[in-house]
Amino acid sequence: MDLLELMKTRRSIRKYLPDRVEKEKLLKIQEAGLYAPNPGGRQGTKIIIVDDPELIDKIGVVNASCENRNWGVGVSSDQPSIIDDISIKSGFYNAPALAMVCIRRDGFEKVNPIGSAFCCAENMVLEAYDLGVSSCIVGRAEATFRFPEMQALLDEWGLDPDYLPVVFVCLGYINGSYPKVKPRNEGRTLFIE
Ligand SMILES: Cc1cc2nc3c(=O)[nH]c(=O)nc-3n(C[C@H](O)[C@H](O)[C@H](O)COP(=O)(O)O)c2cc1C
Repeated sequence: MDLLELMKTRRSIRKYLPDRVEKEKLLKIQEAGLYAPNPGGRQGTKIIIVDDPELIDKIGVVNASCENRNWGVGVSSDQPSIIDDISIKSGFYNAPALAMVCIRRDGFEKVNPIGSAFCCAENMVLEAYDLGVSSCIVGRAEATFRFPEMQALLDEWGLDPDYLPVVFVCLGYINGSYPKVKPRNEGRTLFIE
């Protein structure tokens, strides 16, 4: 698909089939994240893929518990978020695969490491969509890993303790029909000549 068309039609998907995403596709999505722009060219992020639905649900329940779910603002009617539907238990919406982008705690990427992580996430959601895999960026990573049992998982996986997950990307195949493009708000551009 043309890149602009891909960007315009990608949506955040929160209804997933239990079908697993093929490992080759997950590896390509992970690789896409590695090629994101990064502050000072330092490539300070690490990208973990978790391909274990049970474990993802376990982390997802903790992730959802970190949100104040009374925003009073709707996120999506066709792909309800944990804000829209308080009966949703996992902040990862039962996605069968999950990417986690981690930054260095020691300031290795001198400026805006969080921005760096989100650039990785954006690369990954676009690559996923191009591969026919649906996705949703999810936050609350730092809050999720403040729980000792969650931090213990990072230790178990052998993640260098200098690294801290800051953003998640849910990955899976959509359950149902793909939602339409959302219209853009007016007045968001200026063009200076
Ligand atoms: C920085 C950031 C954080 C987000 N965090 C969440 C989240 O925690 N949970 C969620 O369901 N969606 C999250 N999203 C997805 C947004 O809700 C979604 O992009 C937005 O509603 C626009 O919908 P669209 O992606 O389908 O166009 C996040 C997106 C971004 C960019």
